Amino acid sequence: MCGIFGYSGNKQAQGLVIQGLKHLEYRGYDSSGIAMQTHSHKILIEKTHGKIKNLEATLKNNPLSGTTAIGHTRWATHGIPTPENAHPHLNESDELAVVHNGIIENYFELKQALQKQGVRFRSETDTEVIVHLVAKYYKGNLEEAVRRTLKDLKGTYAIAVISSSEPGKIVAAKMDSPLVIGSTKKESYLASDISALLEHTNHVTFIENGDVVTMNQGSFSITDIAGKKISRPVMKIDWDITQAKKGGYQHFMLKEIFEQPGILTAILKERIRGGAIYFDELKITAAQFKKIKRIFIIACGTAYHAGLTAKYILEDLAGIPVSIDTSSEFRYRDPKVDKSTLVIVVSQSGETADTLAGLREAKAKGAMTLAICNVLASSIAREAKGVIYTHAGPEIAVASTKAFTAQLTVLSLFAFYLGALFKTISPKKEKALLKELLLTPHRIQKILDGYKKEEATWKKNVHNFNIHYHTQLEKYFSAKNHERKRSPNGLFLYLGRNINYPIALEGALKLKEIAYIPAEGYPAGEMKHGPIALIDENPWVICLVPESKTYDKMISNIQEIRARGGRIIPIVTEGDKKIERLNPVFTIEVPKTPEIFSPLLTVIPLQLFAYLVALEFGEDIDQPRNLAKSVTVE
Ligand code: F6R
Repeated sequence: MCGIFGYSGNKQAQGLVIQGLKHLEYRGYDSSGIAMQTHSHKILIEKTHGKIKNLEATLKNNPLSGTTAIGHTRWATHGIPTPENAHPHLNESDELAVVHNGIIENYFELKQALQKQGVRFRSETDTEVIVHLVAKYYKGNLEEAVRRTLKDLKGTYAIAVISSSEPGKIVAAKMDSPLVIGSTKKESYLASDISALLEHTNHVTFIENGDVVTMNQGSFSITDIAGKKISRPVMKIDWDITQAKKGGYQHFMLKEIFEQPGILTAILKERIRGGAIYFDELKITAAQFKKIKRIFIIACGTAYHAGLTAKYILEDLAGIPVSIDTSSEFRYRDPKVDKSTLVIVVSQSGETADTLAGLREAKAKGAMTLAICNVLASSIAREAKGVIYTHAGPEIAVASTKAFTAQLTVLSLFAFYLGALFKTISPKKEKALLKELLLTPHRIQKILDGYKKEEATWKKNVHNFNIHYHTQLEKYFSAKNHERKRSPNGLFLYLGRNINYPIALEGALKLKEIAYIPAEGYPAGEMKHGPIALIDENPWVICLVPESKTYDKMISNIQEIRARGGRIIPIVTEGDKKIERLNPVFTIEVPKTPEIFSPLLTVIPLQLFAYLVALEFGEDIDQPRNLAKSVTVE
């Protein structure tokens, strides 16, 4: 969480830093700030509460002039979001400034020691200790002072530091938080993420743990903590800057939903050649895969749901037992994995702290590890033994959509790959199923086209929900205290069975995170074991009921909900005749597809539905409260 950006060059830095921070805003957006080297002997800073646009507005009236600056967009960990706690932080004489992404775990002890030495702190953050330590060790060489400071720090960090006495110079360092640099002839940039660099250069260098970088107007050098020179490769990124812009859509989330057919087409074209599956970048050989006896998947949030869906596909096609855990559970429970286990870590960002820690735990236990990642050369992609990239392009909206379908497509292809290797799928079945998978992008496009045609009906139904919800609220608050039975929350239930159960979880997560409406995903068969007690005329129940081997069971479960007054929104296969008899609020159709690929279709209306509810409720769709895109703290 948090985004850092730095610029040293021959142009005015303020606009460039603001622009860079806007690209990183998805990483945290509760406050932001900038520090500028000027001709005076002090560093000038501006910090505001809230989004970058607040900082931009303040700077419009009070611009900072200079060609070297560092900036920060914050997701609060230590200290509430206030201008004082926002980064950059200055030393006591305002001659040094630091921005930081990560957590300094021993900050309290360091702070106490510094306070004893008479240092006055101006914020409640863990970060401020860094700048006071740099000041303590500064003897005219910023790089040396930073290097000495790093020896005192425990925890995670990507930091950038400037000094008023060393014009043009930015010193940066990294431990477990991402940091990438890019350079043109006369300019040097640093950022938490490549999306912020793309409009300046697509040649970037990923900084490794323990590296210290010194950059100065078009040049940079990397050393280790002892000062020994290190060389890191310059990589060419083929992401297109237009992918990181809204391109006429009202929100990134909607744009990313609509990008899905194109992304899946590209993945399938790249990976399926002559009827066989290829993962060119994979460093694990077929012989090594043949030794595995079981698979363990670890991931968080939406990536976990992709993994949970893939469990069904891997077990079906590759005939291998698959266990799955959320990363934060996996890492603390002494998981039983060994060298016969393939641990697959799924992560869009490749930086999620718990997933990274889980990967390290699996490696320490001798398991073979494979990362399914979107961000090139991210920490998880680099640390796993093998990597398969999802190539979904930059995902900017905090709520993940296109990364999910890309992960699921890649995992499905991997299941085919293992199935062929283990001979658990016949060539005939493989050919027939791949033919169907290849039609998936076209089928998703059909859902999206149908949505565009029926947008008014979708919106009307969502608006009706809003009215229902607010009527409930009014009833609740106008009732006398003793008549208030329970909270009037407009509860949403998402029900699915078998391979569509994880999609129920994903639909509920999408609604919770962007519309802030309580929503629960459940396996439909579990309703009778408790949750059916929630059913009266209030909850809206979204039922995933495409053609499947559990279709009839789902219909029975829906009947049980209807019998208790529950309202249903079924997602069915087009041409379904039975569902209308159950009098749904409205029905959403998806094209016919084999059950194993149905999640790639059924998830699309759920993404659109959450989007529309958040839109109707006027929420900040791309940047929901309390969240950040990359969860780089535990
Ligand atoms: C939900 C969402 C999160 C992420 C989770 C894992 O829409 O985006 O739940 O899926 O934080 O992030 P990655 O995939 O980057 O490891």
